[in-house]
Amino acid sequence: MSILEARALSKQYQLGEHRVNALAGVDFVVQKGEFVAIMGPSGSGKSTLLHLLGGLDKPSAGEVTLAGQRLSVLDDNQATLVRRHNVGFVFQTFNLLPTLTAEENIALPLIIDGQDLRKHQAHIDALLELVGLKDRRRHKPDQLSGGEQQRVAIARALVTRPAIVLADEPTGNLDSKTGTAIMELLRRSCDELGQTIVVVSHDPRTSAYADRVVFLGDGLVVGEVSCDGTEDMAQRVRIIIEAMERLQG
Ligand SMILES: Nc1ncnc2c1ncn2[C@@H]1O[C@H](COP(=O)(O)OP(=O)(O)OP(=O)(O)O)[C@@H](O)[C@H]1O
Ligand SMILES: [Mg+2]
Repeated sequence: MSILEARALSKQYQLGEHRVNALAGVDFVVQKGEFVAIMGPSGSGKSTLLHLLGGLDKPSAGEVTLAGQRLSVLDDNQATLVRRHNVGFVFQTFNLLPTLTAEENIALPLIIDGQDLRKHQAHIDALLELVGLKDRRRHKPDQLSGGEQQRVAIARALVTRPAIVLADEPTGNLDSKTGTAIMELLRRSCDELGQTIVVVSHDPRTSAYADRVVFLGDGLVVGEVSCDGTEDMAQRVRIIIEAMERLQG
């Protein structure tokens, strides 16, 4: 069963006289419980695609269906609710609120949804522990390193236990040990909680956690590779690097 579908998705940005063709007709389907990575050169449209899939921006043409809901027929409030109840988003630029502590930033999706935080404190504590920020919980974003801010953003995306996690370069600012821990966490939440994960990355060692890697080039899907679960990590990384060389030259 598909949980996320993009059909003939295109997105143009108008910059003064200049028109940027960020996505040029993308079909992209994700099954419930699948773990997919999106790869491609800088500027190929990865973040644009992720934002449209999560209903954070509107396509110029085409359609996104998220958890069975066609986003184009919803008004902004309805789309916000569908997103809030189904999607956890990790932004490439983190988007933390500067006046809130790490812990408050993590809890923010629950606060916005009007939930009683006391009921969720154990879960918030567990997430702080998982991302290694227990002793940074009272720090504001400007008192955290880039990698620590990234880990806050990841915990915030997981705090509502969303059916779908969309993560833009979630390991981009992390050392390889922390990056591995984050990807193992996402892999486990896919395997054990049935969460659907879509990760944008340019790093084959990150994409190797996915079941399937979709490659973008100039706003189009240019290829994909799947892993059947029998390969070890090193073999997956090799398969992805070969595909990158084949597709990206
Ligand atoms: N708000 C915007 N206004 C105008 N052009 C934009 C905007 N956002 C993105 N673009 C352009 O659209 C294209 C795709 O951008 P996008 O951010 O999706 O690329 P990306 O694959 O995520 O790149 P990176 O790997 O560098 O993050 C780029 O050429 C970019 O300059
Ligand atoms: Mg990007």
